[in-house]
Amino acid sequence: MGIKYRFLILEDVETDAELIMDQILHTVIVCTFKCTDNEFDFKKLVGEYKPDLVLADYSLPTYDGISALNYVLQHSPELPVIIITGSMNEETAVRCMKAGAADYILKDNMSRLGLAVLAAIEKKNLKLELIQAQKMEAIGNLAGGIAHDFNNLLGVIIGYSDYILETLNPNDTMYRFIENIKSSGTQGVYLTEQLLSVSRKQIIQTEILSINMIVSTTERMLKRLLGEDINLVSYLDTDIWMIEADHGQITQILMNLAINARDAMVEGGKIEIRTENVEIDEHFCRQFMYAHPGYYICLSVLDTGIGLDQETQSHIFEPFYTTKERGKGTGLGLSVIYGIVKQHKGWIAVESQPGNGTLFKVYLPAAFPTEIKKTSEKIFTCETQGYSMRVLLVEDQKMLREFASQILHENGYIISVAEKAEEAIALFESEHGRFDIVFSDVVLPGMSGVKLVDCLLAKKPELNVLLTSGYLDDKSQWSVIRDKGFPFLYKPYTLKKLLSAMKEALI
Ligand SMILES: Nc1ncnc2c1ncn2[C@@H]1O[C@H](COP(=O)(O)OP(=O)(O)OP(=O)(O)O)[C@@H](O)[C@H]1O
Ligand SMILES: [Mg+2]
Repeated sequence: MGIKYRFLILEDVETDAELIMDQILHTVIVCTFKCTDNEFDFKKLVGEYKPDLVLADYSLPTYDGISALNYVLQHSPELPVIIITGSMNEETAVRCMKAGAADYILKDNMSRLGLAVLAAIEKKNLKLELIQAQKMEAIGNLAGGIAHDFNNLLGVIIGYSDYILETLNPNDTMYRFIENIKSSGTQGVYLTEQLLSVSRKQIIQTEILSINMIVSTTERMLKRLLGEDINLVSYLDTDIWMIEADHGQITQILMNLAINARDAMVEGGKIEIRTENVEIDEHFCRQFMYAHPGYYICLSVLDTGIGLDQETQSHIFEPFYTTKERGKGTGLGLSVIYGIVKQHKGWIAVESQPGNGTLFKVYLPAAFPTEIKKTSEKIFTCETQGYSMRVLLVEDQKMLREFASQILHENGYIISVAEKAEEAIALFESEHGRFDIVFSDVVLPGMSGVKLVDCLLAKKPELNVLLTSGYLDDKSQWSVIRDKGFPFLYKPYTLKKLLSAMKEALI
């Protein structure tokens, strides 16, 4: 099942309307129609039926196609209108197109209608996809900017909490207080992760895995979370293809969908989780807005809840869109999923009717053995001492710089600090390159950490490198870092992670 397209036909001759429907049914299988021959009903249906496409007769007894077109352009500018006419000369055709019609069709050349309809829908879908992408981009830029600074602050909070905890006795009351500070900081990290995954700026760590494995492990947790009123069942395809995905993020998709399903079933009900292999062809792509041909796995979650009307459906993936009471929902759940799925090069579809439950389908590209790249897992020891290794630490955020510098110093490293790349280069030169490792933030004011590292490596090829950053976007140059194989430490980092990453980078 795909999206059901809705067509609104403005036509006074019944046999012509039937002919139009016939032609459309030849090309678009899943669709419904509404027909009318007057202005009043037409305007009402544009608002209430929310068609995907209008097919309007050029001249009608009491109304006309151009007026209908103008009305649509004013009230639903994204809705395409195809004008159909029995006799059209060149001037009228030009007039229609200039007025903004998606296409025009002559009644004696109806065979062209199917293709015209497909082209109009495709154009509309692309436009909608673009609008959605722009919205996500705007939120993403905002979130990414905040998350970057926020991660640094959290790094300091978590880092120092860790530091104090090490010095305290677990029976001390202060120990519990500091633990609370640390756990609040960690919750903050979770929130920024959510925002970053909406904006697809989160660094994802993919591996080859089976969706069935994720469903099975999450199912146990879900059963507890959903409570006894909800009957959770899963149907897993035993021959399911593997996917290349981030384990944590796919789990999050499943959790968010299941929690939404539970919230839609206050009186209890049933949730069905299903996995299956699907081969997507061009024909299928026409039915789905965001589909691309290829081999996919489909993870679907079906509930017996209150369902969704068309209007709500058109907003659910928008960040902060929620129908829940204040304080009950942030409206981020589905937009997080949307971001994750896009980042995994898949798409998500929804089917629902008020009162009739909801079906979400997540499509993720299958990964076949030939494409599987061996990811080299490095094994490192947690031995933390620095043994007088000389570190050039570059970090623009003052508190984080102080934290890292103090921790490293206390663990036997010799630290020189710089706020910016330019300053680091000057320091490197004045010290005649006597450093064992450069530990640098990626996003710095001025020259980036990656450029800095390149520059220092040109001067001293055996220099060790450790880069750090909290999120990924063009500025963070994640792909460059990965391609060059530079050791990388995710922000915010804990004391232990910092020390072991340092050790690993020095091996
Ligand atoms: N299975 C479902 N059945 C009915 N409505 C749903 C379902 N899933 C989502 N919705 C609708 O989509 C809206 C957005 O969902 P989303 O998960 O993005 O946010 P939320 O659940 O409201 O808040 P959050 O997930 O941030 O706590 C919901 O408020 C609800 O109206
Ligand atoms: Mg939700």
